[in-house]
Amino acid sequence: MPSDMPENVKPKGPIGRFLAAPADGVGKTIIVAVSLCLVASLVVSAAAVSLRPTQKVNEVRNMRINVLQVAGVYDPEVSVDEAFAAFEPQVLNLKTGAFSTDFDVASFDDEAAAEDPALSRALDEDPAGIGRQALYRTVYILRDDVGAVDKVVLPIHGYGLWSTLYGFIAIEENGNDIFGLQFYQHAETPGLGAEVDNPRWRAQWNGKELRTDDGELAITVAKSVPAAGPDYHIDALAGATLTSVGVNNLVRFWLGEEGYAPFLNTLKEGGV
Ligand SMILES: Cc1cc2nc3c(=O)[nH]c(=O)nc-3n(C[C@H](O)[C@H](O)[C@H](O)COP(=O)(O)O)c2cc1C
Repeated sequence: MPSDMPENVKPKGPIGRFLAAPADGVGKTIIVAVSLCLVASLVVSAAAVSLRPTQKVNEVRNMRINVLQVAGVYDPEVSVDEAFAAFEPQVLNLKTGAFSTDFDVASFDDEAAAEDPALSRALDEDPAGIGRQALYRTVYILRDDVGAVDKVVLPIHGYGLWSTLYGFIAIEENGNDIFGLQFYQHAETPGLGAEVDNPRWRAQWNGKELRTDDGELAITVAKSVPAAGPDYHIDALAGATLTSVGVNNLVRFWLGEEGYAPFLNTLKEGGV
């Protein structure tokens, strides 16, 4: 009982009884601990909710920077939005390889589409380890001054060792030469699988080819050079074979028949 309260005065009401209870009593300790947890969780929830719009803006900005970087047109001196305006986003129908007019490209939500049963499919064969594949994807077209395609930037994702890696691959106007590849999100181990972000490793992708002259998908991430030759070879990461296998699988899935092959064919034939 607090020392300033006369011993013969009984505390009134629950608050009075709480204040009068000994500070180191079990009841008071539990009530104070629970109240603190409640207040702290309210503060954290309020912060999370109020910061959500800012996070969304940052996510979009980060995605745009990655599109610019993988296409080799990122300049830190130039506003991201201004530079990104050079790209033409399109919602691609993966199966037909044609752009879809069924969606508003500005508001199309790729993440939601990938989970919507009407806009995605469950994968029986799933080398990329993604479970479901959206039937439509937002892709980014970069055109030259006369409107001809310069590069296309295509989103790719798939499982590595610990995490799903999300990134972009940039393909030249011929639909076959790789300009670059980079991931913007993953949780592979720093120094091992996370070396997918190492600029020296990424530089290997520039100039490599997807398909041989007879149309076989030959690009391979492996320790040894594939039969098709060095033009199709990306050296696997040392000490990170499993992440490398994941990257090989996801790249081959997304650039193959189940992914962007129909679109890249259209591109090759000049139909984009
Ligand atoms: C703590 C820890 C983290 C690891 N992280 C990765 C990783 O991110 N990616 C990966 O492929 N292997 C990782 N490995 C190694 C794999 O378990 C495996 O040994 C490796 O992929 C074999 O590659 P190597 O044949 O090139 O040595 C990790 C191992 C340990 C112990």
